[in-house]
Amino acid sequence: MGLVSMDFLLRDAQAENYAVGQFNVNGFEWFEGVLTAAEAEHSPVILGVSDRLVDYLGGFRAIFQTATAYMNRFEVTIPCVLHLDHAHTFERCAEAVDAGFTSVMIDGSHLPFEENVKLTSRVVEYAHAHQVSVEGEVGRVGGVEDGEASEMRNADPDECVEFVSRTGVDALAAALGSVHGFYENPQIDFASLRSIARRVSTPLVLHGGSGISGESLAEAIRSGYSKVNVNTDCLIAWRDAIKCFLEDHPHIYEPYTILHKGSEAIYQVVRLKIQEFGSSRKAEHFLLQKNG
Ligand code: 13P
Repeated sequence: MGLVSMDFLLRDAQAENYAVGQFNVNGFEWFEGVLTAAEAEHSPVILGVSDRLVDYLGGFRAIFQTATAYMNRFEVTIPCVLHLDHAHTFERCAEAVDAGFTSVMIDGSHLPFEENVKLTSRVVEYAHAHQVSVEGEVGRVGGVEDGEASEMRNADPDECVEFVSRTGVDALAAALGSVHGFYENPQIDFASLRSIARRVSTPLVLHGGSGISGESLAEAIRSGYSKVNVNTDCLIAWRDAIKCFLEDHPHIYEPYTILHKGSEAIYQVVRLKIQEFGSSRKAEHFLLQKNG
């Protein structure tokens, strides 16, 4: 099906009460692990690229070309989104759109509310003119991401209502207690989540999806989250698989052989997450829509 924008995937997830996974890309092994796992599960998938890693990964254009090359190589048929995660400026979002990304997140959560609305609206205007979806953030996800710490602030339901109606975003990251990085079972404010989901028709996004118990995750999806972001769980699986392989095979030094163990570990995590999110076999919805 190729690269698509995120909005119609999340609308389906919202209507059918499941979540689409965003898996953040940290290197070549992620393209292989994430795409082949999603294909095996027949699930739509979102390849997330944190703005802070864009230069390390070769720039927007190189990332777009790598994603499409891997999709061709593995004959990917599922709907797949190439999404810029946590960009802080209009210019970075525009660069991603111009390079072929099909979705962007503008994170103005560190700004005063009015400035967040202004910045996000500007990105929406540009992105929508190019059929690219936009995610915005209200409140603040806490924890550590790509080595940088941020303070947590829960989203206010009234602000969420006003934010979506004034900006026209396709997805809203409503921070309600989840955290980026390595945290055991953070506490999500389910009452506020349900109240926001009742009042906001825009699909909601759970950042900090690693380390949340299966039970809390199921409740989070039932209560209104239609997209779940995962990075740390894949990073830890990648690190552990490589560490274990090197301990068992101290004489192997070929990167392909070593790093491939990382891909295999990512594949296992992504398949399990997709099953937990309930998005297995949901790719079929979009193939049916496409075929008439
Ligand atoms: P984790 O660090 O919990 O995996 O969260 C990732 C994330 O939310 C990326 O935006």
